Formats: sequence, structure tokens, C-alpha cells
Amino acid sequence: MKGVILHGGHGTRLRPLTHTGPKQLISVANKPISQYVLEDLRNSGILDIAIILGDILPEKVKDHYGDGSKFGVNITYLYQERPAGIAQAVGLAEDFVKDSPFVVYLGDNLLKGGIAKCVKEFQQQNYDAMILLCKVENPQQFGVAEFDQNGKLVRLIEKPKKPPSNYALTGIYFLTPIIYKMIKQLKPSWRGELEITEAIQLLVDNGYNVGYRIVESWWKDTGTVEDIIEANRLILDELKPKIEGTIQDKACIQGRVTIEKDTVIKRGALIRGPVVIGKNTTIEDGVYIGPYTSIGNNVTIKKGEIENSIIMDNCLIEIEEKIIDSLIGSNTEIITNQRGPKGHKLIVGESSKIVL
Ligand code: TTP
Repeated sequence: MKGVILHGGHGTRLRPLTHTGPKQLISVANKPISQYVLEDLRNSGILDIAIILGDILPEKVKDHYGDGSKFGVNITYLYQERPAGIAQAVGLAEDFVKDSPFVVYLGDNLLKGGIAKCVKEFQQQNYDAMILLCKVENPQQFGVAEFDQNGKLVRLIEKPKKPPSNYALTGIYFLTPIIYKMIKQLKPSWRGELEITEAIQLLVDNGYNVGYRIVESWWKDTGTVEDIIEANRLILDELKPKIEGTIQDKACIQGRVTIEKDTVIKRGALIRGPVVIGKNTTIEDGVYIGPYTSIGNNVTIKKGEIENSIIMDNCLIEIEEKIIDSLIGSNTEIITNQRGPKGHKLIVGESSKIVL
């Protein structure tokens, strides 16, 4: 089996974070989302992996993953010049895949428990393709599966107004090279993209054997800020505590907390887990870090309270107020105006959102 990770896309819903890098590199619980994907493939025995890079700073992806040896895999990089659809991106991997069955894994999808069991089942069955479905409350926002009376998959419909079921298509597809015959027949959809759902529909229509499995735990597509904050909560729910930094006397650590090397939690600080704090970070006296918060490397929190949020690397925070439900990109300073007229002084990048 081979693996194909999609690392492109427009990322419009995650601006301004996607002005400075692909969304799949955004950290959840201090690890890039696509690294969970890569590790899931590796842990399922898939070591030969192509990463399809998009047009948003692809060099950042190569800097992080290199040739894959650091992660115990072998990576081939392919380039998608513009986001022309998932099926178009998969099409670029034809020479890489050759005659092997393969898994396509969207680089912004997270799946609890991973795909190892599905990989085994796919290898044992005689499927031409297998999709992974997840029961959702809001099927209108997804590709949705329709079944016949015997539970056989008959149709996949993109964002239906009247969904035939509550089973949404996740971003994990188990495929064989026959899919390339279908992709070559596709025409761009109304949004100008080649749709993978249409390619799989063609397999069904042409009598190929398309199986499906249902996600047993949770699956998260991290396309929006809210999704990422929720994914952070889901991952932190399983956090195994580990303290490698320094906790000064009279600093208070409650619940499951991970604190990495060279980080200092000063006396008088309160950390209430689940919380993860990266390397070389300082949490000063009087600061409160509340549940479901991830704080990156080289961050200084001098003053303030933070809850249910992600603070990425190299940030400085010194505020009177509380930060909640927030996603703060790297190299950001948030400080309370101590001098001059009262009010908020904001220096904010394009497409930002601030709720005061
Ligand atoms: P989406 O999140 O559906 O699309 P997008 O990245 O364009 O985001 P937005 O709607 O916010 O503008 O894409 C699903 C996944 O597939 C995501 O990981 C990006 C990836 N992708 C590609 O790699 N190439 C593509 O051409 C497209 C459309 C998506």
C-alpha cells in the first residue's frame, strides 16, 4: 500500500493563517495537523508516501517533513500548481502510485484511532475502492452517501439540500489505480474543480466494487477556526500528562498537563488541564491557563488568563483580560495598553477576526 497526503487547497476559511502557510501545518495540541495524518499512515504500515503540495508556501512543508526519514517514512513531493480539486490532486500521483493500492488522506483530517484496521480490511477484501463514512448532524455540509435497501452504496451527493442519509464522506479514501480511468473522464464541477466524489460515483455506476466503513469514534475535518479549536479539545481529551520543564514552588498544576523541556511555570501561576505547553516557554506569576489550551514553543505569558485556545510559537501575551476560544498565530503580541489614551490599539493582518 502507498499513501497520498493532500497538502494544498485554497484555505480561504482559515485566513489570515493561510496567508503565511498551508492550513495543514497549523498545530493542534502542538503538532501540525498533517503530521497526525502522516503518523497514522506510518502506524498503519504505509511507509511510501507522496505529499501533494499546494501553492501556499509549499517550502514550509518540505522544511518540516524533509525526506521523511525523521518520521520513519519515505516522502515523494508532487506539486499541484493551483487548487483544481481533490481528484485533480490525486491525478497527479498516478506515476507515484503505479499499480499499487493506495490511501488518499486529506492533510487536514483527523481520525481518532487511525486507519490501521481499515487498511487491513481493504487489503483483505476485493474492493476497487473503499470509503470511510462518519455519521454527522449536518450532512448538508458534506458529501453524503445514499444506500439501497440492502445497505449497498448507490450514490454520493455533494452537499445535498435533502440528504438521503446522515453518513458523510470523510477525507480518507482507499483506492486502486482503476480510479485514474475515472478521473480522466471528469469535467470540472460548478466550483471549477475535479471532484473525487464524482470519480467514485463513476466507479459505482460502472459496476466496480466500492465498499465502505463507518467511523467508530470521532473524525474531524479542520477547515474552519471553530473546527480547529474543537480538534484541539478532542486531542487534549486524550492527553497523557508529562512534565519535562520546571515548575517552581507554589505554581499550581491541576489535571492532565504536559510541559516540555526548558519551559518554566513560575510561582503563583495556575495551569488547569488538559493543557499542553511547548518548549522554552515562560508562564509568569499570576497567569491562569485553563482547560483545553495548547501553548507553543518560545511563548511568554506575562499576564492574563487563557482558556480553550491555541497560542502558537513565539507569542507574547500580557493582558488584563481573558482570552477564550481563540487561535493565535505565531509571532503575535497581545498586550494591554498601559500608557496613553484608553482604547484598543490594533495592528492586524488581512482577513483577521477580532472579537473584543
Ligand atoms: P477544502 O477544505 O474543501 O478546500 P480548501 O482548502 O480550498 O479550503 P476553503 O474552502 O477554506 O477555501 O479541501 C479539502 C482538503 O483537500 C484540504 O486538505 C485541502 C485539500 N485540497 C488540495 O490539496 N487540493 C485541492 O485542489 C483542493 C480543492 C483541496
